[in-house]
Amino acid sequence: MILIFAVDNNWNIGFGGKMLADLPEDLKRFREITEGNIVIMGRKTLEAIPGQNPLPNRINILVTRKDKFDNKGFHIINDLDNLLPLLKEINPDNEMEVFVTGGETIVRQLMPYCTKAYITKIDKSFEETDTCIPNLDLDSNWKILNESEVYSQGDLNYKYVDYIRV
Ligand SMILES: NC(=O)c1ccc[n+]([C@@H]2O[C@H](COP(=O)([O-])OP(=O)(O)OC[C@H]3O[C@@H](n4cnc5c(N)ncnc54)[C@H](OP(=O)(O)O)[C@@H]3O)[C@@H](O)[C@H]2O)c1
Repeated sequence: MILIFAVDNNWNIGFGGKMLADLPEDLKRFREITEGNIVIMGRKTLEAIPGQNPLPNRINILVTRKDKFDNKGFHIINDLDNLLPLLKEINPDNEMEVFVTGGETIVRQLMPYCTKAYITKIDKSFEETDTCIPNLDLDSNWKILNESEVYSQGDLNYKYVDYIRV
């Protein structure tokens, strides 16, 4: 599985249910990388998506304990123990990549299965945050594979850093 996240300098990812910054170019890159593949998200991350619809052109897996979720085309997982059997069923030959797209609770549970990470690093320490993911720079099991140039949008600078588990 592959992590794909935008983080600040302290690896924070959100506040009040929203992402920390609105970076259209990063969202475009997210779409390009994940299209044609499988995305896994927690119910709170879905709530941040306008309309709460599945992401188009992707197989969407939603993790929630709510048994009455209106499925709209999601594969619903009520128990993460059912995730690997579902992936085997919908992706038997591993032709599609499987992206863990949020949020914190889902990452922390699926981290052991993740072997790659696409991280958008925003060069700012946001004051108001309530969700974060593990800092891969402090984890010797992970190393940087590629690092982009620095891009700017308004007063925010950011870059794309790809990691691999060693
Ligand atoms: N910066 C980024 O790239 C990025 C990306 C994604 C999300 N985010 C941000 O992250 C924040 C949301 O993260 P979060 O950690 O609060 O929420 P989350 O992980 O998106 O969703 C949590 C929910 O997932 C369900 N869940 C979690 N573990 C489960 C399990 N083992 N079995 C069944 N259901 C399970 C539960 O849903 P129920 O309550 O329905 O049972 C739980 O309340 C938001 O601010 C969002 O904007 C940022």
